[in-house]
Amino acid sequence: MLWLADTAALKMEPSLKNYSIAVYPGDGIGVDVTDAAMCVLDAVAQADGSFSLDQTRFDWGADYFDKHGKPAPDDLLDTVRPFNAIFLGAVGYPSRYPDHVSLIPLVTIRQKFDLYSCVRPARTYQGVRSLLASNATIDMAVVRENSEGEYFTCGGRFKQGSDDEIAIQTGLHSRKGIERILRFGFDLARTRRNKLTMITKSNAMKFSMVMWDNVLEQVQGDYPDVETDKQHVDAAAMNFVRMPEKFDVVVASNLFGDILTDLSGAIVGSLGLNPSANLDPTRQFPSLFEPVHGSAPDIAGKGIANPVGAILSGAMMLDWLGEKEAAARIQTAVEQSFAQGCLTPDVGGDLTTDQMTEAVLERLGVAVGN
Ligand code: NAI
Ligand code: MG
Repeated sequence: MLWLADTAALKMEPSLKNYSIAVYPGDGIGVDVTDAAMCVLDAVAQADGSFSLDQTRFDWGADYFDKHGKPAPDDLLDTVRPFNAIFLGAVGYPSRYPDHVSLIPLVTIRQKFDLYSCVRPARTYQGVRSLLASNATIDMAVVRENSEGEYFTCGGRFKQGSDDEIAIQTGLHSRKGIERILRFGFDLARTRRNKLTMITKSNAMKFSMVMWDNVLEQVQGDYPDVETDKQHVDAAAMNFVRMPEKFDVVVASNLFGDILTDLSGAIVGSLGLNPSANLDPTRQFPSLFEPVHGSAPDIAGKGIANPVGAILSGAMMLDWLGEKEAAARIQTAVEQSFAQGCLTPDVGGDLTTDQMTEAVLERLGVAVGN
């Protein structure tokens, strides 16, 4: 998988062949797409024969909240810390528990394990129609700063419920945090098309985003071979629609990266297609892999969620663990499935989640049992 190709920062111990995976399906379609991804991962491991995956499932989310009044146990971090990687479906179910509560375990893992680099590739596929009128070939990777920025928890509400109520929500942007995510983006760009676009809003946010500009100026000299550009987030949103083929690596703050990657899903055909990796490039902590999409309560329980974003997140996980060949096989099986007309309803087809998963399994050369 090219977006995680061999950079010095991404090396893995070659001897590890039995990988322990903490599986956190979460809520809504998170459960369906996790089942699909695990099924594909097991199949590819079996077909490969040189590694196995030891999956331990944690049923945290709305049901856990009903019983315990919290979305996950207090020792969440200690529980997942020993695993080689974490796989997450999606969390959240606003009609069952508050959204800002459901997301706490995920944000805690990202921040406490310093999974600072969130890589979210988006590309078009033969056989899948983009939502854009143009037939642009899109192949970008958004690198979202994942450990601080606008999602840093600092603030409060004063005189809550009264007419005089105020809320303060503070962002945190550190020079070190900006520099390391930019360097990660530059290194990634060198494995792709040597182009990096940094997204800010430095015309309006004159402290944090102007510091992003300053750090870019300081860092870009070390990467003279990478074409560098910067755009304000509002212009970038327009350009994702107007000329998406121009983007290669896009580096953005936590909030901007979050917003732009729903858009990058839509422009390639569906949010359900896109995978993501939340990486600790130092490999001190387990990295976390999840589709970009959420738990989609509007289609939960219908069995029609597109499992591809989750399946490709599983491929990114294998790639990160060092199983590059197996990761590439999954990618190819997905491409072949689309090219041969296997599509779920979000991309204009009528396959169920299970049928789409079976299509991928068949193209991996795995016999489908039922
Ligand atoms: P969403 O991503 O769940 O859904 C947005 C739209 O895309 C919906 O119409 C949905 O049906 C569609 N969609 C998403 N994934 C799809 C798939 N695999 N196949 C077919 N269609 C798909 O975002 P929304 O509706 O804003 O949030 C729903 C819940 O998910 C909320 O509780 C939110 O907080 C949570 N959420 C969790 C995330 C996570 O766990 N990382 C990320 C984003 C949202
Ligand atoms: Mg999001």
